[in-house]
Amino acid sequence: PGVRPLVAGNWKMNGLRGSEREFEAMLERARADRGADLMICPPATLLMRLSAIAGNGPIALGGQDCHAEVSGAHTGDLSAEMLADAGATAVILGHSERRQDHGETSAQVAAKVEAAWRAGLTAIVCVGETEAERDEGRAVEVVLGQLQGSVPEGATHETLVVAYEPVWAIGTGRTPTAEDVREMHSRQREGLKARFGKAGEAIRILYGGSVKPANAAELMAIANVDGALVGGASLKADDFMGIAAAY
Ligand code: G3H
Repeated sequence: PGVRPLVAGNWKMNGLRGSEREFEAMLERARADRGADLMICPPATLLMRLSAIAGNGPIALGGQDCHAEVSGAHTGDLSAEMLADAGATAVILGHSERRQDHGETSAQVAAKVEAAWRAGLTAIVCVGETEAERDEGRAVEVVLGQLQGSVPEGATHETLVVAYEPVWAIGTGRTPTAEDVREMHSRQREGLKARFGKAGEAIRILYGGSVKPANAAELMAIANVDGALVGGASLKADDFMGIAAAY
């Protein structure tokens, strides 16, 4: 209630300096039309550059992962403090690609969420079942388990965003039925309210997985869908702003 939807783009491992043009095109269009909060999570190599372009404008920036510690001997890793220093106000944590490619557990994700909060970043925590888990009838159990395990105590709508992304819908062009999305988001809302009380009502729950301009309005109209986490369609200004136009 009273919380603005969020449309966040996850560029994943895509984007070189030329992508600045696409970001500028998004910014230009975002100035005119804002029914939702907008965010782009570029690869870390572009954060400072996009941050300089974004200024105090209508598109916030986020990271895609962080280490749980502030600094130290962790070759190749980035701390939440570094992301904040580079201009991020949020960080995606526990994306299924991190859980799959890097074996991240919910306990590790929870430690990263604490790190994000320590650095003043909003944590965008991803949860979602695989196709096998759905076929076994365990989708709700898996998602609620990940939510419980990945989110530490004390979350509020300012410090936490949840992103429900069924793994089989990511980058596949397939999406769950509206009824499945409604059920899954409603179960997560109940879980958040049970844990965080009133704060749980206002925590945004995004849907992610093959969101495109053509299906955004239908998905965003579902109860307890408070925005979208967009992968492929966030790389082009036309597509990303087409999705944002669903608000
Ligand atoms: O984080 C974003 C998601 O994994 C969705 O990716 O829109 O390419 O399906 P997609």
